[in-house]
Amino acid sequence: MTKKIIFLGIETSCDETAAAVIRENEKGTADILSNVVSSQISEHKKFGGVVPELAARAHLENIEYIINSALDESKVSLDNIDGIAATAGPGLIVCLTIGLNIGKSIAAFSNKPFIAVNHLEGHALSPKLNSKLDYPYLLLLISGGHSQYLSVKNLSEYKRLGTTIDDAIGEAFDKTAKLLNIEFPGGPQIEVLAKKGNPNKYNLPKPIFNKGGCNLSFAGLKTAILKISKEIKTDQEKFDLAASFQKTVIEILYKKTKIAFNEFEKKIKPKEKKFVVAGGVAANKKIRSMLINLCNEENYQSIFPPPELCGDNAAMIAMVGLEKFKLKQFDNLDYPAKPRWQLDENAVFLKGAGVRLSD
Ligand code: KG4
Ligand code: ZN
Repeated sequence: MTKKIIFLGIETSCDETAAAVIRENEKGTADILSNVVSSQISEHKKFGGVVPELAARAHLENIEYIINSALDESKVSLDNIDGIAATAGPGLIVCLTIGLNIGKSIAAFSNKPFIAVNHLEGHALSPKLNSKLDYPYLLLLISGGHSQYLSVKNLSEYKRLGTTIDDAIGEAFDKTAKLLNIEFPGGPQIEVLAKKGNPNKYNLPKPIFNKGGCNLSFAGLKTAILKISKEIKTDQEKFDLAASFQKTVIEILYKKTKIAFNEFEKKIKPKEKKFVVAGGVAANKKIRSMLINLCNEENYQSIFPPPELCGDNAAMIAMVGLEKFKLKQFDNLDYPAKPRWQLDENAVFLKGAGVRLSD
């Protein structure tokens, strides 16, 4: 029996300090031997958002303990690990450097290969931790900082089909929560409150709904919520606004995903039509079920990571490490942190005033 590859992953790009050990298996996926995530919610709650310097200090205080816990839990010694993968970007530079530097140090003193990982590629490959997934596929990446449709031709071969021109979808959830006086991080709470509300109570705008291909925009939605939230007096109205917001986002994603399907088929001509949804917002059950229904209508296979692997974690970083290790795509120990590292490095910057969108 050939030895199965075992990888250590490290993640510190934002406010989660995480380490994980995974091992490839016969099913073409990976066994998660440990997956330790330390969230800093309590540190940032009083400020209503992530404070980079506080996040960096917390990473520094916790990282050694988290890595040791991941190794202990996995029952694998460092000697038996084949390589170390650490997130190099995108993210907060003060946070990235902590995980990246410790990953490089472990690789140097244990004499193992080092792999610098794009955090977004971690999300993109996260479904591979529990489902066999061959290329190519269409990816919808929906997180706190990114909202993009990408065609994934192969490992590290991404072509962006559409992106948000302003706020990311997770950011829209978080900002809406803040306007409704829900404690940070409020995104997941919107889903809970929406269950008690009437989604048809408020008619909210759908920016660039009828233009811009599968590009997305959520800033106008936030402005509308700001106005309405000032008039809100009862809890029921708050639930109604949460439900109306979620319904509007779902309608936007339904239409834009259909356009993305079309573009993907035209560009790639895939033999099998596969749609992967990843990132923190992919944990939202309403969004998941709408996208699953759409896939059934359009003959796509829908693939999601399990909800607990949608948010930031290091198992997904180790997964990228494992895939790159098989192709011997190792990195040097002087690999820099890349705070703005895009998956499609040729994609044009599409943010801010003056963005021109075609119909
Ligand atoms: O992928 P992630 O953990 O971190 C980033 O890389 O950004 O995504 C975090 C984002 C946050 O904006 C959070 O509010 C959102 O995902 N999120 C949700 C839900 N769970 C997490 N948004 C809507 N519904 C949820 N259930
Ligand atoms: Zn993330």
